[in-house]
Amino acid sequence: MTGNQTNSSLIASETAHEIGVYPKRGIALVRGSGSHVWDADGKEYIDFTSGIGIAILGHAHPRIVEAVGRQANTLITCNESFANDERARLLERLAKLWNQATRSSGRIFLCNSGTEAIEAAMKLARAKTGRKGFVAAMNAFHGRSTGSLSLTFKPKYRERFEPLIGPVTRVRYNDIEGLRTAVNSDTAAVFLEVIQGEGGIRPATQEYIQAAREICTSAGALLIIDEIQTGCGRTGRFFAFEYYGISPDAVTLAKGLGGGVPIGALIASEDVCAFKPLEHGSTFGGNPLACAAANAMLDVMEKENVLQMAAQNGSWLMERLNALKARHASITEIRGMGLMLAIELKSESKPVLQAAQLRGLLVLAAGDLVVRLLPPLNTPREDFEQALQTLDEVLPA
Ligand SMILES: Cc1ncc(COP(=O)(O)O)c(C=O)c1O
Repeated sequence: MTGNQTNSSLIASETAHEIGVYPKRGIALVRGSGSHVWDADGKEYIDFTSGIGIAILGHAHPRIVEAVGRQANTLITCNESFANDERARLLERLAKLWNQATRSSGRIFLCNSGTEAIEAAMKLARAKTGRKGFVAAMNAFHGRSTGSLSLTFKPKYRERFEPLIGPVTRVRYNDIEGLRTAVNSDTAAVFLEVIQGEGGIRPATQEYIQAAREICTSAGALLIIDEIQTGCGRTGRFFAFEYYGISPDAVTLAKGLGGGVPIGALIASEDVCAFKPLEHGSTFGGNPLACAAANAMLDVMEKENVLQMAAQNGSWLMERLNALKARHASITEIRGMGLMLAIELKSESKPVLQAAQLRGLLVLAAGDLVVRLLPPLNTPREDFEQALQTLDEVLPA
C-alpha cells in the first residue's frame, strides 16, 4: 500500500475525474522493477504487458533511471531551435541504425508518441509526392489522432469522428493483388505493420512485404512501415522489416524507444525528406530528457546483447507455448515473432486475462480471441517459467 491509498481508492479517484475513455482492469500499479510490478494493495505481478510494449528493458532499469535523473539535473527542456548533446547523439544513432538496416541515409523527426510519428509520416508522404491518397490494411492500428485514426481500421474507433483525412483505401492484409489494385497515381503512401499488433499479432508474409515494396516503387508511392509496436528490438531485430529483405521509405517508432519514457520518431530515407523549414514541428519533440532515456535504452541494448536475447527468448517461448497448445484444445494458434506473441483461443480472451491477473500475471488482449504477450526483452527465464505455469492453470482445457 502507498500511504492510505488502495487499488479501489485510486481507481475511484481516476474514474471520477478521467474523461471516460479508459476501461480499468481492477488494480492500480504503483511500483515496478524489471519484469515485476506491484499494485497499491501490495500484490506483486509478472508484467507481460510492459505497459503495452513500452518498458522494453523492464521497469526502473538502473541505466534508464540514472540517465533520466542525471538529465533532469542537467537540462530537461531545449526546443529544437537549439541543438543539444543528448539529442544530437540520439539522432546520430538512429541514423546509423537506419543505415545499417537499409544501406541508405536517413533523416529523423523526433516526437512524443506513436500517433505523432504517423501524423508526421502522412504529411511527409503528401509533401514528397504531391498526392493525397493513402492505402492502409484491414485490421491495422496506427493511432487515434485525426490523421492516424484515418488509417486505423476499426470502424467503431473512427465512425463518430468522420470526416477524417482521406481518401484512404483499405486493403486485405497479405493480399498482394488487392494491394496492386488499390495503389495508383493518387497514392501518396502505403502504411503497413509487418506484424499487425492490435489487430491480433498477425505477421505479414515475406511475399506480401516484398510485393508492397515493388508496387509502391512502380507507382511512385511511399512505403511506410509502422514499427511502433514491432520496433526497437521487440522481434529480435531493431526493425522488424529487417526480416523481410526490403527497405521502406520511412519507418515510425515509439513505445520501447525511451525504455518507458514518452518519445516517438519518424525515420525517413534522405531522398523522401521533402519538408520545408517549419512545415512540421513539436514543442516537446526531441526534448533532452526523453533523448537521454532513449540513449540509455540503446546503450543497454548494445552492451547487453538485448536483440539476441529477445530472439532467443522468443523462439524458446514460442516452443513452450506450442507445447501448451498441445495440452489445451481451447488454443487454436500460437503466432508472432521474437517477444511479440499471441495465443489465439476458441473463446474470448478476457476471462483468461482476468484469471491470470488474479494469479499474479499481467497479459494483454489483441482483439476478442487473442491473449497477447509483450514481456520485457530481458525477462529472466524463471519469470517465463512462472508465467507459463500460470497460463497453463488459467487457459481453458
Ligand atoms: C502499430 C501501432 N501504431 C501506432 C500506435 C499508436 O501509438 P500511440 O498510442 O503512442 O499514439 C500503436 C499503439 O498501440 C501501434 O501499436
